[in-house]
Amino acid sequence: MATLTTHQIELVEKILTLKKEKNAVILVHNYLRPEVYEVADFIGDSLGLCEEAAQTKADIVVFSAVHFMAESAALLLPHAKVLLPNYNAGCALADMITAEQLRAFKLEHPGAAVVCYINSSAEVKAESDAVCTSANAAEVVRNLPEKKILFVPDKNLANFVARLVPEKEIIAWEGYCPIHHKITVEQVMKAKADHPNAKVIAHPECPEDILRIADKVASTTGMMKFAEQNENDEFIIITECGLTQRMIKEMPEKKFLSVCNMCYDMKKTTLESILEALEQEQFEIMIPEHVAVRARKSFKRMFELTGGVSKIPSLVE
Ligand code: 13P
Ligand code: SF4
Repeated sequence: MATLTTHQIELVEKILTLKKEKNAVILVHNYLRPEVYEVADFIGDSLGLCEEAAQTKADIVVFSAVHFMAESAALLLPHAKVLLPNYNAGCALADMITAEQLRAFKLEHPGAAVVCYINSSAEVKAESDAVCTSANAAEVVRNLPEKKILFVPDKNLANFVARLVPEKEIIAWEGYCPIHHKITVEQVMKAKADHPNAKVIAHPECPEDILRIADKVASTTGMMKFAEQNENDEFIIITECGLTQRMIKEMPEKKFLSVCNMCYDMKKTTLESILEALEQEQFEIMIPEHVAVRARKSFKRMFELTGGVSKIPSLVE
């Protein structure tokens, strides 16, 4: 349990009561503020959150993360109300490509399949052949029949996948997550020199020179699992700062050092905004049906290529 102020304890109690009354669930990304974990029904990475959202029987899903994640839940759960507590919680990486830019990119490379990272808008997903997340990007690319793949919008994840799946020709869009991209290999080498016994765990949105020296590259939940299951007791965590906070809290017997930057969009969701979201039933994610139908197809392809489509009731005809 995070150390909460009296005001935060009151907010938590109000949220839990209202959540029950309205048959709502609260899904929370790994990077969120620690006090928000206290009201979570589930905490996870993009893939885990999608799977959890898609299977819920709740009438309302309060998606405590950023816009593209709530939008993904709304695509997979068309009959529930999906709420994003702070409508301004966006993602700089997702904003690096528009549907129009993707259409032009496709025209330059006829015959290539398009894989879009989940950190993208519903419109971009609608223009793609398959979605992927940081947890399954290599599997999605490997299992597509096409040899030539346009990978958007994250070039760092694209380069990482290209190394894992050398039989494919990957053409990457020039996007990146500024939070991960500005971490330098010098920072990591310094942390390694100071803590020579620590294992290095990095998120695949980091630049290639960092990923090449990491002991493990994984999604945020994959990073947590590696630290949990590895016999080492010291780790250098390279991603957004919130994940290390969660690891310190959940694995007090291990030592975590962080080379990280803060994603302010992930911190925009507060206990106050979650309470307001539940009270006012705001801000509901609405996706035009002509976009949703095509974006859902790209999601379906992801789950088909990774063997998980049976887990998503809305995608099973
Ligand atoms: P995960 O799916 O690994 O949690 O990553 C989401 C994200 O936005 C990382 O910056
Ligand atoms: Fe987007 Fe980067 Fe923030 Fe993740 S950390 S939500 S990719 S801006």
